[in-house]
Amino acid sequence: MAERIALIGGTGKEGKGLAFRWAQAGYDVVIGSRQVEKAQIAADELNQLLGNIKNPVTGLQNLQAADWCDIAVLTVPFAAHQAILTELKDCLNGKILIDVTVPLVPPKVTKVQFPPAGSAALEARDILGEGIQVVSAFQNISYERLMDEGDIECDVLVTGTSKDARKIVLALVEKAGMVGWDAGPIENSVVAEGMTSVLIGLNSQYGIHNAGIKITGINRE
Ligand SMILES: NC(=O)c1ccc[n+]([C@@H]2O[C@H](COP(=O)([O-])OP(=O)(O)OC[C@H]3O[C@@H](n4cnc5c(N)ncnc54)[C@H](OP(=O)(O)O)[C@@H]3O)[C@@H](O)[C@H]2O)c1
Repeated sequence: MAERIALIGGTGKEGKGLAFRWAQAGYDVVIGSRQVEKAQIAADELNQLLGNIKNPVTGLQNLQAADWCDIAVLTVPFAAHQAILTELKDCLNGKILIDVTVPLVPPKVTKVQFPPAGSAALEARDILGEGIQVVSAFQNISYERLMDEGDIECDVLVTGTSKDARKIVLALVEKAGMVGWDAGPIENSVVAEGMTSVLIGLNSQYGIHNAGIKITGINRE
């Protein structure tokens, strides 16, 4: 468990939630932001919640965080996706990028709308090129679930540019208290990305915050 994890855009809801889970599990975690002061404030907030842990969370600018890490996790609104990946590309060479971005187009967030590349994850792959493994995960996990204690009642579909990279990310999913599935190549990320709009729609129809998905019929023992 040697991974150093940087949350790019980690001052936001989803990034902070994932940082909380991995810091709790003992990983070395950095929050990235466009402003280092904002990153440090978010890291301090998490450390208050986490209490006495082995590796307290720290805050850096996104570029420094991407440089420092083994695994970068991108949690920014889709409107920022292309620009931030282009900016971080050189720092990420030889590493894994986990893309959590959902290509939501406000205000119609309950309607599935994909970008010209086909999906957010495919756009990331096209921008980053062959030197960086892109894995897509966590699109169906709401930040509110991440900040609760205990296991999460929603599965994680993990797709990516290589089986080895997916395996590494599946271990991170498990350490964060979730059930993950190897859902195949990065092209399959459309399923999880599109599902988010469906879940947001169900949340709104039923007045809830926690609609989720479960794979059934497989005995994992
Ligand atoms: N929220 C959820 O429950 C959830 C669940 C699943 C997936 N997601 C996906 O995860 C991603 C992040 O969601 P979120 O709710 O955490 O978003 P958010 O809170 O709105 O934003 C996350 C962070 O992105 C950074 N950011 C915003 N605009 C930027 C820009 N133009 N350039 C660079 N950075 C920018 C900000 O960090 P700084 O200002 O510190 O730089 C912000 O704190 C989205 O793609 C979302 O669809 C969210």
